[in-house]
Amino acid sequence: MKKIYITRNFYSTLVVTLLVCNMALAHDGKTHENQLVDTLQAVTTDAVVNATKKSVWGENYFPNSTLITQDGERVKFFDDLIKDKVVAINFIFTSCVDSCPLETARMKEVGEILGDRVGKDIFFYSISIDPETDTPAVLKAYKEKFKIGSNWKFLTGDKADIINIRKKLGLYLEYLQTGEEEDLENHNLNLIIGNQSTGRWMKSSPFENSYILASQLGDWLHNWKTVTAAKNSYAEAPQLRQLDPGEKLFRTRCSSCHKFGEEGVGPDLLAVTENRDHVWLKRWLKEPDKMLAEKDPLAVNLFNQYKISMPNMRLSAQDVDDIITYMALETKRLRL
Ligand code: HEC
Repeated sequence: MKKIYITRNFYSTLVVTLLVCNMALAHDGKTHENQLVDTLQAVTTDAVVNATKKSVWGENYFPNSTLITQDGERVKFFDDLIKDKVVAINFIFTSCVDSCPLETARMKEVGEILGDRVGKDIFFYSISIDPETDTPAVLKAYKEKFKIGSNWKFLTGDKADIINIRKKLGLYLEYLQTGEEEDLENHNLNLIIGNQSTGRWMKSSPFENSYILASQLGDWLHNWKTVTAAKNSYAEAPQLRQLDPGEKLFRTRCSSCHKFGEEGVGPDLLAVTENRDHVWLKRWLKEPDKMLAEKDPLAVNLFNQYKISMPNMRLSAQDVDDIITYMALETKRLRL
């Protein structure tokens, strides 16, 4: 079977499409603070042509606040974290059970695709939006739970400084408009990736395909100059073919935490459809949070083992059936 490579042309088209979508989204409810992202998106197409131009979003724009890493090291946001670097930054809080584990697992997958470039020419930062709870020790424990390597920094700091950084990155939008207290569970989910020196920044959904995110970070933001040294090449990206609905759902919602035949952030799912009672499994996929809250013995057992709660993915009954069918078929396929 032929492999499909992501070619530069294909990719340029994709970038432009993403930019157009992002701009369209950004147009309603624009605020002073989120103009950075808007404007940067508008100049990005120019930047593709004229990438060597120095960014105006430099030290005069970004704060140089002190943040503290999971190891207690003090770092300056501009000087130490983003200056002249290609970065991926997201905002999390460790007590979040819904979307953050998903985001973290997805970023971990992107990191695995990029291999040893993370920490060398691509930098990953997760900044807590709940710094009172998320002390360096709490962040360190969180990192360990996800088995995340040393090259990705988790950061905490002064709450006002962190809000300011989010505003400057255009990731603190709705609260500016309503003036309401922030609801942590609904914090802005966007991940931002960028190259500080060229001024190319782009908001990206953490639910984006990991191979596309990796390609944006590894090639596009490096102006296509860097030869990819990642141990997992994009050429190994899953082949593009017609996926059945269960497989499609699995790839977008589950694969950053689960694999077949090996452990991931969550348990190995090979043969799970045979090892678990069908009714239990159906309910588990529908509402794992409720089952844990009700102290279902198996749910409690699994949680004690993995320490990360599986998010409620708001699947419909049809989604659940499709995914169960896929898990059974994938188990069979791998046994052939
Ligand atoms: C953020 C990571 C994450 C995501 C995303 C996720 N899971 Fe899980 N899953 C876990 C963890 C962790 C456990 C172990 C139980 C716990 O700690 O809550 C688990 C447990 C399970 C189990 C039970 C395994 C067993 O041995 O009985 C199944 C089945 C499962 N997940 C399927 C899925 C499916 C299907 C999806 C996608 C719709 C999914 N998970 C999405 C993390 C995740």
